[in-house]
Amino acid sequence: MKTQYYSAASLDGYIATEDDSLDWLFALGSLGESSYSDFIAGVGALAMGATTYEWVLRHSAAVIAETGSPWPYAQPAWIFTHRTLPAIDGADIRFVQGDVAAVHAQMRAAAGDKNLWVVGGGELAGQFLDAGLLDELIVQVGSVTLGGGKPLLPRRLLPPVLRLTSARQMSAGMVELRYDIQK
Ligand SMILES: NC(=O)c1ccc[n+]([C@@H]2O[C@H](COP(=O)([O-])OP(=O)(O)OC[C@H]3O[C@@H](n4cnc5c(N)ncnc54)[C@H](OP(=O)(O)O)[C@@H]3O)[C@@H](O)[C@H]2O)c1
Repeated sequence: MKTQYYSAASLDGYIATEDDSLDWLFALGSLGESSYSDFIAGVGALAMGATTYEWVLRHSAAVIAETGSPWPYAQPAWIFTHRTLPAIDGADIRFVQGDVAAVHAQMRAAAGDKNLWVVGGGELAGQFLDAGLLDELIVQVGSVTLGGGKPLLPRRLLPPVLRLTSARQMSAGMVELRYDIQK
């Protein structure tokens, strides 16, 4: 039962461009070529920030085309925001703000014996890390550089915090790195 930050990043450490485009990521290949289906099968609850949620709202046509639904997750989800955002029909979501530890306890209670997924962005993942709640970082590193954008994890993590547990090539465009986070 881990809390995992699973994300895709450019080689220079960005998960989206400054204007929140993921076009660079989709150009690298399909979800089917990644570890996503095995990963999501182990997830019992997930959390994301407002910008990530708004990306799903803005790209509903593409999300429906890919997954058959405007909300691609069956698991309960917690959306961090200070604003009133529109809900998505049929989505099991709740809007929250503030202390990630309190939300983490709710997620843990909902997830049973499954893992918790911090979807992103990086600052929200950083808040879970700061609270000592992040167990694993899984990053699909794409064969692209963006030169700027939304950072993977805007924190300074020096040895021995990250312990590399696996490095696996998924395709010519992607390598997956897994790290245990020492607390
Ligand atoms: N490459 C990938 O695998 C991947 C994965 C995930 C996301 N993404 C993309 O990367 C970008 C991430 O954007 P981002 O870094 O700006 O992050 P984000 O975490 O999605 O959104 C940040 C916003 O979340 C809200 N927030 C964060 N912590 C909060 C807290 N404790 N309480 C209340 N609200 C809180 C704030 O919104 P308010 O404005 O409401 O205050 C904040 O401005 C998006 O474009 C997303 O689509 C990519």
